[in-house]
Amino acid sequence: MILALVPMRDLLDRACEKGIAVGAFSVGNMEMVMGAVKAAQELETPIILQIAEVRLKNSPLELMGPMMISAAENADIDIAVHLDHGLKPETVAQALDIGFSSVMFDGSLLALEKNIETVKNIVKLASDYDATVEAELGIVGGNEGEGKQHKILCTDPEDAKHFCDETGVDALAVAIGNAHGNYPVLPELRFDVLEEIHKRVSTPLVLHGGTGISDEQFRKAISLGIRKINIATASFDNLAAYAKAYCANKDKANYFELSAAEVEGVYQNVKRHIKVFSFMD
Ligand code: 13P
Repeated sequence: MILALVPMRDLLDRACEKGIAVGAFSVGNMEMVMGAVKAAQELETPIILQIAEVRLKNSPLELMGPMMISAAENADIDIAVHLDHGLKPETVAQALDIGFSSVMFDGSLLALEKNIETVKNIVKLASDYDATVEAELGIVGGNEGEGKQHKILCTDPEDAKHFCDETGVDALAVAIGNAHGNYPVLPELRFDVLEEIHKRVSTPLVLHGGTGISDEQFRKAISLGIRKINIATASFDNLAAYAKAYCANKDKANYFELSAAEVEGVYQNVKRHIKVFSFMD
Protein backbone atom coordinates (compact mmCIF):
# COMPACT_ATOMS: atom_id res chain seq x y z
CA MET A 1 0.00 0.00 0.00
CA ILE A 2 1.32 3.49 -0.83
CA LEU A 3 0.66 5.95 1.96
CA ALA A 4 -0.38 9.11 0.18
CA LEU A 5 -1.43 11.42 3.01
CA VAL A 6 0.82 14.46 2.63
CA PRO A 7 1.14 17.89 4.30
CA MET A 8 -0.79 20.49 2.31
CA ARG A 9 2.33 22.64 2.01
CA ASP A 10 3.94 19.95 -0.20
CA LEU A 11 1.06 20.25 -2.66
CA LEU A 12 1.19 24.06 -2.55
CA ASP A 13 4.95 24.02 -3.23
CA ARG A 14 4.44 21.76 -6.23
CA ALA A 15 1.61 23.98 -7.48
CA CYS A 16 3.92 27.03 -7.20
CA GLU A 17 6.60 25.29 -9.24
CA LYS A 18 4.13 24.33 -11.96
CA GLY A 19 2.15 27.60 -11.94
CA ILE A 20 -1.14 25.78 -11.24
CA ALA A 21 -3.56 25.53 -8.30
CA VAL A 22 -4.56 22.55 -6.18
CA GLY A 23 -8.28 21.88 -5.90
CA ALA A 24 -9.61 21.68 -2.35
CA PHE A 25 -12.86 19.77 -2.41
CA SER A 26 -15.31 19.81 0.48
CA VAL A 27 -16.85 16.49 1.48
CA GLY A 28 -19.74 15.57 3.75
CA ASN A 29 -20.17 11.82 3.38
CA MET A 30 -18.49 8.69 2.05
CA GLU A 31 -19.84 9.13 -1.48
CA MET A 32 -18.31 12.61 -1.70
CA VAL A 33 -14.94 11.28 -0.56
CA MET A 34 -15.12 8.43 -3.11
CA GLY A 35 -16.17 10.71 -5.99
CA ALA A 36 -13.39 13.22 -5.32
CA VAL A 37 -10.67 10.57 -4.96
CA LYS A 38 -11.87 8.75 -8.08
CA ALA A 39 -11.54 11.95 -10.16
CA ALA A 40 -8.10 12.77 -8.74
CA GLN A 41 -6.79 9.25 -9.36
CA GLU A 42 -8.13 9.17 -12.90
CA LEU A 43 -6.42 12.49 -13.69
CA GLU A 44 -3.33 11.52 -11.66
CA THR A 45 -3.51 14.86 -9.86
CA PRO A 46 -3.13 15.54 -6.12
CA ILE A 47 -6.07 17.11 -4.32
CA ILE A 48 -7.05 18.40 -0.91
CA LEU A 49 -10.02 16.78 0.85
CA GLN A 50 -11.54 19.20 3.31
CA ILE A 51 -14.43 19.69 5.70
CA ALA A 52 -15.48 22.94 7.37
CA GLU A 53 -16.23 23.25 11.07
CA VAL A 54 -19.82 24.42 10.40
CA ARG A 55 -20.50 21.13 8.56
CA LEU A 56 -19.56 18.98 11.53
CA LYS A 57 -23.10 18.97 12.91
CA ASN A 58 -24.17 17.01 9.79
CA SER A 59 -20.92 15.11 9.33
CA PRO A 60 -19.13 14.63 12.67
CA LEU A 61 -15.36 15.05 12.71
CA GLU A 62 -14.77 11.80 14.61
CA LEU A 63 -16.52 9.89 11.77
CA MET A 64 -15.49 11.93 8.73
CA GLY A 65 -11.90 12.55 9.80
CA PRO A 66 -10.69 8.93 9.96
CA MET A 67 -12.50 8.16 6.69
CA MET A 68 -10.87 11.10 4.86
CA ILE A 69 -7.46 10.11 6.19
CA SER A 70 -7.94 6.48 5.23
CA ALA A 71 -9.05 7.53 1.73
CA ALA A 72 -5.83 9.56 1.40
CA GLU A 73 -3.64 6.76 2.72
CA ASN A 74 -5.13 4.26 0.30
CA ALA A 75 -5.09 6.49 -2.78
CA ASP A 76 -2.42 6.15 -5.45
CA ILE A 77 -2.00 9.92 -5.69
CA ASP A 78 -1.03 12.42 -2.97
CA ILE A 79 -3.83 13.90 -0.90
CA ALA A 80 -3.83 16.43 1.93
CA VAL A 81 -6.66 16.26 4.49
CA HIS A 82 -7.63 19.71 5.70
CA LEU A 83 -9.93 21.31 8.27
CA ASP A 84 -11.64 24.18 6.45
CA HIS A 85 -12.74 27.30 8.37
CA GLY A 86 -11.73 26.15 11.83
CA LEU A 87 -13.48 28.55 14.18
CA LYS A 88 -12.42 27.29 17.59
CA PRO A 89 -8.83 26.38 18.51
CA GLU A 90 -10.26 23.22 20.19
CA THR A 91 -11.65 21.99 16.87
CA VAL A 92 -8.30 22.66 15.18
CA ALA A 93 -6.57 20.65 17.94
CA GLN A 94 -9.09 17.80 17.52
CA ALA A 95 -8.45 17.64 13.76
CA LEU A 96 -4.69 17.56 14.33
CA ASP A 97 -5.07 14.77 16.90
CA ILE A 98 -7.13 12.73 14.40
CA GLY A 99 -4.30 13.12 11.87
CA PHE A 100 -5.34 15.94 9.52
CA SER A 101 -2.29 17.11 7.58
CA SER A 102 -3.56 20.68 7.39
CA VAL A 103 -5.82 23.08 9.28
CA MET A 104 -7.34 26.48 8.65
CA PHE A 105 -8.06 28.89 11.45
CA ASP A 106 -10.53 31.51 10.27
CA GLY A 107 -9.99 34.63 12.34
CA SER A 108 -11.19 36.93 9.55
CA LEU A 109 -13.88 38.48 11.75
CA LEU A 110 -11.37 39.28 14.50
CA ALA A 111 -9.38 42.51 14.74
CA LEU A 112 -6.09 42.22 12.81
CA GLU A 113 -3.81 41.93 15.85
CA LYS A 114 -6.10 39.40 17.56
CA ASN A 115 -6.21 37.34 14.33
CA ILE A 116 -2.40 37.45 14.21
CA GLU A 117 -2.03 36.43 17.86
CA THR A 118 -4.46 33.47 17.50
CA VAL A 119 -2.94 32.26 14.22
CA LYS A 120 0.56 32.41 15.73
CA ASN A 121 -0.59 29.98 18.44
CA ILE A 122 -2.17 27.69 15.82
CA VAL A 123 1.08 27.72 13.79
CA LYS A 124 2.99 26.71 16.94
CA LEU A 125 0.54 23.91 17.71
CA ALA A 126 0.47 22.61 14.12
CA SER A 127 4.27 22.47 13.94
CA ASP A 128 4.20 19.67 16.56
CA TYR A 129 2.23 17.63 14.00
CA ASP A 130 4.18 18.80 10.93
CA ALA A 131 0.81 20.09 9.70
CA THR A 132 0.16 23.04 7.38
CA VAL A 133 -1.76 26.16 8.46
CA GLU A 134 -4.06 28.37 6.39
CA ALA A 135 -5.48 31.65 7.70
CA GLU A 136 -7.78 34.30 6.24
CA LEU A 137 -7.57 38.06 6.00
CA GLY A 138 -10.32 40.35 4.74
CA ILE A 139 -13.89 39.05 4.54
CA VAL A 140 -15.08 36.57 1.93
CA GLY A 141 -18.77 37.16 1.20
CA GLY A 142 -21.73 34.86 1.89
CA ASN A 143 -21.25 32.17 4.47
CA GLU A 144 -19.76 28.68 4.63
CA GLY A 145 -22.97 27.07 5.93
CA GLU A 146 -26.21 28.81 6.90
CA GLY A 147 -26.26 31.89 9.11
CA LYS A 148 -25.28 35.51 8.71
CA GLN A 149 -24.27 36.50 5.18
CA HIS A 150 -20.97 38.34 5.40
CA LYS A 151 -20.42 41.54 3.47
CA ILE A 152 -17.28 41.40 1.32
CA LEU A 153 -14.27 43.35 2.60
CA CYS A 154 -11.26 43.05 0.28
CA THR A 155 -7.94 42.09 1.84
CA ASP A 156 -5.62 45.04 2.33
CA PRO A 157 -2.29 44.18 0.60
CA GLU A 158 -0.16 45.87 3.29
CA ASP A 159 -2.06 44.04 6.04
CA ALA A 160 -1.49 40.79 4.13
CA LYS A 161 2.26 41.35 4.19
CA HIS A 162 2.26 42.25 7.88
CA PHE A 163 0.06 39.23 8.65
CA CYS A 164 2.23 36.72 6.76
CA ASP A 165 5.47 38.14 8.21
CA GLU A 166 4.13 38.00 11.76
CA THR A 167 2.37 34.63 11.72
CA GLY A 168 4.48 32.54 9.33
CA VAL A 169 1.31 30.87 7.93
CA ASP A 170 1.74 28.45 5.02
CA ALA A 171 -1.27 29.70 3.04
CA LEU A 172 -3.36 32.86 3.08
CA ALA A 173 -7.02 33.03 2.02
CA VAL A 174 -7.77 36.39 0.45
CA ALA A 175 -10.97 38.34 -0.14
CA ILE A 176 -11.12 39.84 -3.63
CA GLY A 177 -14.87 39.98 -4.25
CA ASN A 178 -15.33 36.22 -3.91
CA ALA A 179 -18.16 34.71 -1.81
CA HIS A 180 -19.28 31.30 -0.54
CA GLY A 181 -22.35 29.72 -2.14
CA ASN A 182 -23.95 30.34 -5.53
CA TYR A 183 -23.35 33.82 -6.99
CA PRO A 184 -26.49 35.54 -8.34
CA VAL A 185 -24.39 36.76 -11.30
CA LEU A 186 -20.76 36.19 -12.32
CA PRO A 187 -18.73 38.01 -9.63
CA GLU A 188 -16.39 40.83 -10.47
CA LEU A 189 -13.15 39.73 -8.90
CA ARG A 190 -10.67 42.44 -7.89
CA PHE A 191 -7.61 41.19 -9.75
CA ASP A 192 -5.94 44.55 -9.08
CA VAL A 193 -6.11 43.81 -5.34
CA LEU A 194 -4.85 40.24 -5.87
CA GLU A 195 -1.93 41.54 -7.91
CA GLU A 196 -0.94 43.96 -5.14
CA ILE A 197 -1.09 41.18 -2.53
CA HIS A 198 0.94 38.85 -4.78
CA LYS A 199 3.62 41.56 -5.23
CA ARG A 200 4.11 41.86 -1.48
CA VAL A 201 3.59 38.30 -0.26
CA SER A 202 5.35 35.08 -1.29
CA THR A 203 2.95 32.89 0.77
CA PRO A 204 0.71 30.72 -1.47
CA LEU A 205 -2.72 32.38 -1.77
CA VAL A 206 -6.10 30.67 -1.46
CA LEU A 207 -9.35 31.45 -3.28
CA HIS A 208 -12.50 30.53 -1.37
CA GLY A 209 -15.99 30.57 -2.89
CA GLY A 210 -14.96 28.72 -6.05
CA THR A 211 -18.48 27.69 -7.07
CA GLY A 212 -19.67 29.83 -10.00
CA ILE A 213 -16.33 31.50 -10.80
CA SER A 214 -15.60 31.20 -14.53
CA ASP A 215 -12.74 29.14 -15.97
CA GLU A 216 -11.11 32.34 -17.29
CA GLN A 217 -11.31 33.96 -13.84
CA PHE A 218 -9.80 30.85 -12.21
CA ARG A 219 -6.89 30.90 -14.60
CA LYS A 220 -6.30 34.62 -14.22
CA ALA A 221 -6.34 34.21 -10.41
CA ILE A 222 -3.81 31.35 -10.69
CA SER A 223 -1.54 33.58 -12.79
CA LEU A 224 -1.62 36.05 -9.87
CA GLY A 225 -0.53 33.66 -7.11
CA ILE A 226 -3.64 31.62 -6.21
CA ARG A 227 -2.40 28.09 -5.40
CA LYS A 228 -5.44 26.52 -3.67
CA ILE A 229 -9.04 26.85 -4.80
CA ASN A 230 -11.96 25.77 -2.62
CA ILE A 231 -15.02 24.12 -4.14
CA ALA A 232 -17.95 23.13 -1.92
CA THR A 233 -21.42 24.18 -3.14
CA ALA A 234 -20.89 22.88 -6.69
CA SER A 235 -20.15 19.38 -5.35
CA PHE A 236 -23.07 19.40 -2.90
CA ASP A 237 -25.39 20.65 -5.67
CA ASN A 238 -24.15 18.13 -8.25
CA LEU A 239 -24.55 15.26 -5.80
CA ALA A 240 -28.14 16.37 -5.11
CA ALA A 241 -28.87 16.83 -8.84
CA TYR A 242 -27.59 13.34 -9.73
CA ALA A 243 -29.52 11.79 -6.83
CA LYS A 244 -32.68 13.64 -7.90
CA ALA A 245 -32.30 12.57 -11.53
CA TYR A 246 -31.78 8.95 -10.45
CA CYS A 247 -34.89 8.95 -8.23
CA ALA A 248 -37.00 10.71 -10.86
CA ASN A 249 -36.66 7.71 -13.19
CA LYS A 250 -37.55 5.08 -10.61
CA ASP A 251 -40.82 3.85 -9.11
CA LYS A 252 -38.79 2.44 -6.27
CA ALA A 253 -35.33 3.83 -5.59
CA ASN A 254 -32.53 1.42 -4.73
CA TYR A 255 -30.09 2.54 -2.03
CA PHE A 256 -27.02 1.13 -3.76
CA GLU A 257 -27.83 2.76 -7.08
CA LEU A 258 -28.57 6.01 -5.28
CA SER A 259 -25.17 5.84 -3.58
CA ALA A 260 -23.50 5.29 -6.97
CA ALA A 261 -25.37 8.30 -8.40
CA GLU A 262 -24.03 10.46 -5.55
CA VAL A 263 -20.46 9.35 -6.21
CA GLU A 264 -20.90 10.10 -9.91
CA GLY A 265 -22.26 13.62 -9.26
CA VAL A 266 -19.23 14.56 -7.16
CA TYR A 267 -16.78 12.80 -9.48
CA GLN A 268 -18.01 14.80 -12.50
CA ASN A 269 -17.77 18.11 -10.67
CA VAL A 270 -14.34 17.45 -9.17
CA LYS A 271 -12.95 16.22 -12.48
CA ARG A 272 -14.12 19.35 -14.28
CA HIS A 273 -12.48 21.63 -11.73
CA ILE A 274 -9.19 19.70 -11.52
CA LYS A 275 -8.81 20.09 -15.29
CA VAL A 276 -9.30 23.85 -15.10
CA PHE A 277 -6.95 24.32 -12.13
CA SER A 278 -4.23 22.17 -13.75
CA PHE A 279 -4.55 23.74 -17.21
CA MET A 280 -5.47 20.36 -18.77
CA ASP A 281 -7.48 20.32 -21.97
P1 13P B 1 -18.22 27.43 -2.49
O1 13P B 1 -19.26 26.73 -1.65
O2 13P B 1 -18.69 28.73 -3.01
O3 13P B 1 -17.68 26.54 -3.55
O4 13P B 1 -17.01 27.82 -1.50
C1 13P B 1 -16.23 26.82 -0.99
C2 13P B 1 -15.32 27.33 0.05
O5 13P B 1 -14.73 28.38 -0.09
C3 13P B 1 -15.13 26.50 1.24
O6 13P B 1 -14.36 27.14 2.20
